[in-house]
Amino acid sequence: MEIRAEKSGDIAAIRMVNLAAFGRDSEANLVDQLRGVASTLSLVAVEAEQIVGHVFFSPVTIEGTCPDPFLMLGLGPVAVLPDRQRQGIGSLLIHHGLEVCRQLGCKAVVVLGYPEYYRRFGFGPAKQKGLSCEYPVPNEVFMVLELEPDALVACQGLIKYRPEFHGL
Ligand SMILES: CC(C)(COP(=O)(O)OP(=O)(O)OC[C@H]1O[C@@H](n2cnc3c(N)ncnc32)[C@H](O)[C@@H]1OP(=O)(O)O)[C@@H](O)C(=O)NCCC(=O)NCCS
Repeated sequence: MEIRAEKSGDIAAIRMVNLAAFGRDSEANLVDQLRGVASTLSLVAVEAEQIVGHVFFSPVTIEGTCPDPFLMLGLGPVAVLPDRQRQGIGSLLIHHGLEVCRQLGCKAVVVLGYPEYYRRFGFGPAKQKGLSCEYPVPNEVFMVLELEPDALVACQGLIKYRPEFHGL
């Protein structure tokens, strides 16, 4: 299994993985809309030359107090082909993705998702770090991971995703 950055020839396969995993086109469309936006990160999992998984990160902004500059990214969507789920591919993509985020100078990553799943990567409730979500979601599903110790000590407020997320 190889985890690598998206290449120009991967676009159709990435779309297919997102369509298959989510059973709708919203996430695939979102990735297509955000492709090429500054500070986005798109990684694929490749096995026998087939793309079997995909993870995407995009920049979020903070309305509140925060050092400037401060790169924070939102994880998602992440998708694995249905017949390849629960084989560790999603975990590989996320671990690798978080490492690339760290190398890019990203200080923290937020995610909206299943707490039981994201806890294993070190994510915890964002509210405990003083961060809230612009969307009306239960507190426990909005999580954050600091990529440097105490990265969020001086950073608190309302997290806003790219506007392309609004229709999701
Ligand atoms: C979520 C997803 C990316 C995980 O990828 P994966 O390759 O199946 O995950 P892994 O094999 O690394 O991890 C499997 C673990 O995730 C857990 N898991 C998978 N989907 C889960 C869910 N919806 N809720 C809670 N846990 C889940 C499994 O219980 C499993 O736990 P275990 O190892 O203790 O058995 C994949 O299942 C998927 O594409 N789902 C559909 C799209 C989606 O919901 N994406 C996430 C929201 S952006």
